[in-house]
Amino acid sequence: MTRGANGSPSLVVVLGPPGSGKGTQCARLAATLGLTHVSTGDALRDEASHGTRLGRLAAHYLDNGDLVPDELVIETMMRALARSEGFPAVLLDGFPRTEAQAVALEDLDLGCVRLAAALLVSRAVLLERLRNRGRPDDRSEIVRRRLIAYEVETRPLLDYYARNGLLVHVDGNRSPTEVTTTLSGHLAAVGIMGRHLVRTGTHGGAS
Ligand code: AP5
Ligand code: MG
Repeated sequence: MTRGANGSPSLVVVLGPPGSGKGTQCARLAATLGLTHVSTGDALRDEASHGTRLGRLAAHYLDNGDLVPDELVIETMMRALARSEGFPAVLLDGFPRTEAQAVALEDLDLGCVRLAAALLVSRAVLLERLRNRGRPDDRSEIVRRRLIAYEVETRPLLDYYARNGLLVHVDGNRSPTEVTTTLSGHLAAVGIMGRHLVRTGTHGGAS
């Protein structure tokens, strides 16, 4: 499962439905611990806004709230991770979202998955947060599609990472600060403490 090559970064997979706080928490952890934050959603929106080949291919899926095909997302992720070279730990915000992506992450050997943190938030709270934010894909009919994509494609990954002993559940209904504190504790438990990284072995899991 955790087959990172020597020197490759520790990877933290942050899972959760739309509006669960993946981006908020990764940004906070990146700022406080000095880690890299890679968001596939942000990267894909960036490609789309610049009209790149990849962005043009992804735009239709982003607009409709559907998952972008695996091969496009994996290409986006590889580019983003290549830019993260040299960082000891990378927070993966919204990747993987399918089992095929999770398998690709292992096969590409870009780093060692140390932890998968699933943010749990009630549906009513998610809908309220997204209604208040107002991103173009936060329109109610698109949010519905994004939630279905999460349930069908991404939720099974919780079992996938649980089977590998890497999954922790985090109550994301609380204040951003409380959630960050809990996540920081889980990161510390696997040796990820920002500037004071503790090496727990190249093949260790979230024990
Ligand atoms: P992406 O941008 O990742 O969207 P998402 O997963 O739907 O999640 P959001 O970004 O909406 O929510 P979040 O969990 O980051 O919450 P946030 O911190 O923003 O992906 C967009 C699209 O890209 C997908 O639909 C798909 O098309 C494509 N895509 C991306 N990755 C892909 C992949 N791997 N495979 C295929 N396709 C992919 O918080 C939401 C709001 O709540 C904010 O306003 C925030 O301020 C607020 N908030 C957060 N936490 C709290 C809190 N604790 N208390 C109160 N308010 C809070
Ligand atoms: Mg986000």
